[in-house]
Amino acid sequence: VARGNSNASLTGHVLGDHEDLNEIPVRYDDTELWRIHNISDALLWTVPVTEIMENKFGANIWKENPKYVDLSITKTQAKGARSFLNAHRLDTEVLARNVQDLIDEEQLEGIRATQAKLGRRIRKASNDGSEMNWNDYQSLETIYDYMREIRAKYPDICRLYTIGHTYGGRELKVLRISENPRDNKKIWIDGGIHAREWISPATVTFILSKLMDDWENQPKYIRELTWYIMPVMNPDGYQYSRTVNRLWRKNRSPSTIRANCFGVDLNRNFDIGWTSQGSSKDPCSDIYRGSAPNSELETKAVAEFLSKRKYNLEAYLTYHSYGQLIVYPWAFKAVKVKDANVLQRVANTAAERIIQKTGTPYKAAVTHEVLGIAGGGSDDWSRGVLGVKYVYTVELRDRGLNGFVLPPKYIKDTAIEGWTVAETVAQAIG
Ligand code: ARG
Ligand code: ZN
Repeated sequence: VARGNSNASLTGHVLGDHEDLNEIPVRYDDTELWRIHNISDALLWTVPVTEIMENKFGANIWKENPKYVDLSITKTQAKGARSFLNAHRLDTEVLARNVQDLIDEEQLEGIRATQAKLGRRIRKASNDGSEMNWNDYQSLETIYDYMREIRAKYPDICRLYTIGHTYGGRELKVLRISENPRDNKKIWIDGGIHAREWISPATVTFILSKLMDDWENQPKYIRELTWYIMPVMNPDGYQYSRTVNRLWRKNRSPSTIRANCFGVDLNRNFDIGWTSQGSSKDPCSDIYRGSAPNSELETKAVAEFLSKRKYNLEAYLTYHSYGQLIVYPWAFKAVKVKDANVLQRVANTAAERIIQKTGTPYKAAVTHEVLGIAGGGSDDWSRGVLGVKYVYTVELRDRGLNGFVLPPKYIKDTAIEGWTVAETVAQAIG
């Protein structure tokens, strides 16, 4: 059940893992990954394609935007789904024939990369260096150990907060890096709002390493900011996606109205445009908005922490996958923020720099145009409620070939792309 890079991941459980380990892992054998094109064709206004695929054919929605929807679906359901789609003249592209193969390859590749690095060396029990690396995706334990290690190494400029706990009893951890907490302008960075988007915590921890490995030699515009870094906003979901269901998205809080449904989409639970479209009131849905804004411990903890620190808070960056996008508000309504031209320009700069560094194209745009309208997002909330200027959601790699199951060999370059956005925004704050 436990996967990952080392012997430590077999024993390195944190509070809350025990329940997950009693569950039988979900497998995705005989499950295909599809892309359905042109879903918003005018003809189809009255046909809720995504809902039908989800509720009638048991599909798991990976991504939905005004142009297409990506979903996984079992071969058993595929026939019925195909005739439905044909009847509505919808083009379907098969992105992958067997999702379990993607998951297995991802896992094997990570194990191999880690073993290659460790060689035949056997880790000593007394080893106090952290397990952290970017050859593979890491457990919550490894990520939290890494945060503690950084805090211990640079006690003068680091402070480690536990800003709350999850339903499963796990800590919600934020690291602050600052030479002058009282006067500095602030930047917030989070990852792991959605459990299955593993590249996000990997990228945010990488950003942390880029900052700290060479803090003294960072440019002034980086050292003169206060950085708040939260690599995993949804630790229960993250661990659940590592041990039970690779494609889990939400947190793990149980519903009080539907006994067998779990989890709230934390990025639909923030207190802005909460009832607008793009989320669901059905607790079984993957985009369930929760029983009320801030109903979830994770959302509440972040909202309270940031509300108290909104003075001088200049940037809010949140990392997701996938799609290779840099987007800015609004998401909850089809309107741009007043200074959209400034946000677009900074995002363009980031995208240009990314092209130079790794050659990967990222598209900069306003959220609702490329992802559709959705309320309750952390990005809109930080802008609309806290008044943060530079608000970006970064959708990391890829564009659908592997989707959430991004092979570990792409972690480093993708993380560089995420770091490039953070650097560019830091510079823009000035
Ligand atoms: N993939 C992210 C999500 O669905 C995109 C977030 C964009 N912002 C938003 N407020 N919807 O949550
Ligand atoms: Zn996401």
